[in-house]
Amino acid sequence: MSMVTVSAPGKVILFGEHAVVYGRPSLVSAIDRRIYVSLETRDDNKIAISSNAEPRDLSFPVGELRTADGFPYIRKAVELAFERTGRESGLDIEISSEIPPASGLGSSASVSVATIMAVCGALGTEISKEELAKLGHRVEFEVQGAASPTDTAVTTFGGVLFVEPEKEEHQRIDVSLPLVVGYTGIERSTGALVENVRALKEKSPEIVDPIIENIGRITVEAKYRIENGEDIGELMNTNHGLLVELGVSSPELDSLVKAALDAGARGAKITGAGGGGCMIAYAPDSREAVANAIEKLGFRAFDSATTSEGVAVE
Ligand code: PMV
Repeated sequence: MSMVTVSAPGKVILFGEHAVVYGRPSLVSAIDRRIYVSLETRDDNKIAISSNAEPRDLSFPVGELRTADGFPYIRKAVELAFERTGRESGLDIEISSEIPPASGLGSSASVSVATIMAVCGALGTEISKEELAKLGHRVEFEVQGAASPTDTAVTTFGGVLFVEPEKEEHQRIDVSLPLVVGYTGIERSTGALVENVRALKEKSPEIVDPIIENIGRITVEAKYRIENGEDIGELMNTNHGLLVELGVSSPELDSLVKAALDAGARGAKITGAGGGGCMIAYAPDSREAVANAIEKLGFRAFDSATTSEGVAVE
């Protein structure tokens, strides 16, 4: 028997969501909320998965890895890790998550990357972070049908990254951004929202293409301002406006953005795919007031600091 625990952080997208699907850059930060994957080999050729984020456990023979029902990211991650190690084994997998699921905080990327590393560790195969990020991206791509490399890169490497989808290397920016996250509690599907934007773009390219182009420009400008210690509030507000134009906001997200700004945030926007999930507020001098304003509306708020620690063996 071999037991290993691996953790990986969640993330918030600071700038560039949706436009990154069309090759524009994104700016993303790992946050100090993690998913822990504890994994132990077992010799009866069964895989058992349980998670504090899911009501139902799952157990099946190794041969049913591709067809079992439930935990699609974990099953795909185990499948690709078996492929990478050239070995298969029965496994007990226990997930403990500090990241709410389906909310744009990167739980699927985090659990995918941590699971691949844990399986490789338990089966005695070393794997580089570059390879982990690539395999993690493959998990997301194969489960969702479409995915940018943003989430899997940041959960692997940690920190704040400037991700250019067509480049293998991601630029690391040495900064820690204190953000307030507002959580609507509304679960939504990234795939469906990406599809809505694609349909809108196909129907009216002359209107939608410039919006995507401008989100890309804002992201490049935000990188410049962050590197020079300048304020990013106004850029966040403009980016939010463009996401509204893409149709991915919701009444709850808009009310949280407004409440945050009224309470003194310098900028606020949707983070992630939108439609529910989360928003972020940049409030260096009014964090408590912003968190209180969000909670007053009946939603959850939490502080999230950037973490430099990517995927790691505990
Ligand atoms: O899954 P989320 O909410 O973090 O959204 C991902 C960001 C998108 O740009 C909408 C999609 C992607 O794959 O980058």
